Order: sequence, then structure tokens, then C-alpha cells
Amino acid sequence: MIAERRDFSRAEREDSYCRLLAGASGWRALESVMELRLPELLTKRGPLTADEIVVALSLHPQRGRKWLLALCHLGLLEEALDPGLLPARYRAGPMMRAFWHEDGAMGFFYRDFLRFWRTSHAFDLVQVIRGLPVPQVPYPPESLEEAQLLEQWMRDTASETVETIERAITFEGIERLLDVAGGDGTMAIHYAQRYPQLHVTIFNLPNSAYLARQNISRAGVADRVSVVEGDFRHDPLPQGIQLVQFSRVLADWPEEVCQMLLTKAWQALAPGGRVLICEPLADDNPDLTVAWETIYIPYDDFGVGVYKPLASYERLLTQGGFKILQVTRKDRDSTHAVIVAQRLGQRDSPGPI
Ligand SMILES: C[S@@+](CC[C@H](N)C(=O)[O-])C[C@H]1O[C@@H](n2cnc3c(N)ncnc32)[C@H](O)[C@@H]1O
Repeated sequence: MIAERRDFSRAEREDSYCRLLAGASGWRALESVMELRLPELLTKRGPLTADEIVVALSLHPQRGRKWLLALCHLGLLEEALDPGLLPARYRAGPMMRAFWHEDGAMGFFYRDFLRFWRTSHAFDLVQVIRGLPVPQVPYPPESLEEAQLLEQWMRDTASETVETIERAITFEGIERLLDVAGGDGTMAIHYAQRYPQLHVTIFNLPNSAYLARQNISRAGVADRVSVVEGDFRHDPLPQGIQLVQFSRVLADWPEEVCQMLLTKAWQALAPGGRVLICEPLADDNPDLTVAWETIYIPYDDFGVGVYKPLASYERLLTQGGFKILQVTRKDRDSTHAVIVAQRLGQRDSPGPI
């Protein structure tokens, strides 16, 4: 018997239940739209009536119409605004315009995210949580191909991350920046090109370090961007740094690893140096957190609770010997928060290194 039944009003109870089911409905709708290439059809032929779509995609007439209406409710389709025109014509709605390019092809990140999502959710969840062995997605990536795929995801979404960081801080007075797990160098190259005083060191695993070296040489910034190969779980970080950046790194790891990384950052920093954390916060991004945390359930390299709320980062930083200077929360242009903290003279607890 569940004693506490007063958390929700009756309407809120219905809404909450339906919201859970609607999440799954949205996923199936997204897949069907992709499989049937509806965006491509609308791009080629412009707004179409339900009958025209039904014929073009070989759909069952009544089921097809229900599907089109469901897509409207989801925001994937909308009726073309021409009241004089009957029957109604459908065109791409705000979500379809957001996830698909104008040529009708889905953006790489969203397409590949959906592939990953499908692979993970194809397993029987009950069996998975009881320990069913499933083919693993290794993290960190092991082969060059796996590293290339991860870094392609990151490159595809790097510009909005850099813009978020640049809205939160200036790099004035910073000459030595360490980009821990700095991807294929995309962000470091941008910084070097934009801030002439800055020398950036990228620390990354050998495969990603190899990709970064190639990009640095192509961009002609090898005099100010260098790469150090290493595994941050075992190796120390380069020393004498003014700003240590963790961009989209700590949300891959549980708290105990993050604490160890902040300890290493503290040691890498010159006195008064700062650490910058750019991550989606669990409390600002509940849907993103549920999507990723459920994807990770079958994959054992991902620890428990990798998406963390602000309070966790605040605690980890304080315990790691940092004073928080600034927190810039998610805004309408970014899912990420930026936290900047200063290295204090001493750490509260030494922590594992
Ligand atoms: C999600 S990507 C973020 C890349 C980049 N910081 C950005 O924001 O675009 C995570 C990065 O962590 C690196 N990484 C993962 N495990 C690592 C480890 N044990 N040691 C060093 N780097 C690691 C990966 O190679 C990858 O470049």
C-alpha cells in the first residue's frame, strides 16, 4: 500500500502519467518520420494534403491520417497557414525544422543519437537490470574508429559549447590553458585563433590525441596548441596552468572520478588559478538526464549518476579546495551551465589521486 497519495492533484496525476507514456510515443513517432523520410518528401514537394502524403508514402489511409495528426500534436508537423486552402496541407513543424536540415536530411548528431538510443533500448530492460550480458559500448572509446565517432559528435556540437563558455567568461590575462579531455582539438584551435596571448595544452587519450594533432597541424596553430597523451584516471595532468577546462567531460563520470579529476586539476594549477566546468546540470535538464541515464543502463563502463545537479559540483569543488566564483546556468541558447572556481591554498580533504 502506498500511503502518500497527496503529491499531485488529480489532474497533475493524469498529466504525469501521460507525460511518461508520451515520451515513448514521441520516440516511436520520431523513428517513423525518419524511416519514412517524411521531411525529404515535404522538402521536395512542399506542403501536402493528408491524401497526398498517404499516397506518396504508401500508408493505410485512416491510420496515416491519425499518424499525421499525432505528428502535429508532437510539433513535428504543422498545418500550412492558408485558411482559404482546403483540404489542409501539412508542412514541417518547429521540431522537424530543428532536427532536420532544409534539404530533408536529419542532422548528424540527432541521427546518430537516435541510433545509439535504439541500440540501448532494444534490450529487455528487466533482463538488463537483472544482469543480462549485452554487447558493450566501451567508454572511453578503445579503437580509433570509436574515438573518431565520439569526436565527430563533439565537433558537431562544439560551436554552441564554445559560445556558451565565451558568454560566461573572458580569457583576458590567461596565457596557459589546459583543456582536459579536449576532444579532437576543435575548441583549443578556436581559442588559439581568437585569443593571441593564449597557449593551450590538450590532454587526451592516444587516439583522440592523434586526431587533435592532425587538426592542429591543418589549422597551422602548432606553435600555440600542444597535445599531451595520457589517461586521466592514471596519469597526472600537465602543471603550471592558469585555467583548467573540463568541457563535457565530468558528465561522463560518477562523482568519485570527478573528485579525483578536480584534485588533479588543483595540482595542475598555479596558485590563484581557476577551473572551468561546462556541463549540462541534471537539475536544469531533467529530460536530457533521463534520456542519457537510461541509455547508459546496459553499458557498464558508465558509472552510476553521471549527470549531476549543481549542488554536487558545488560540493565536489569545495571539497577539492576551490572557491566558486561564478555559476552561469542554462539559458535559452544552451543546455550547458558554466561553473568557474578558484584554487585555494589548501584542499579540505586530500582525496585520492
Ligand atoms: C564527451 S567528449 C568531450 C570533448 C571536448 N572536451 C568537448 O567538449 O568537445 C569526452 C572526451 O573525454 C576524453 N576522455 C575520456 N576518457 C578519458 C580518459 N580516461 N583520459 C583522458 N581523456 C579521456 C575522450 O577522448 C573525449 O575527447
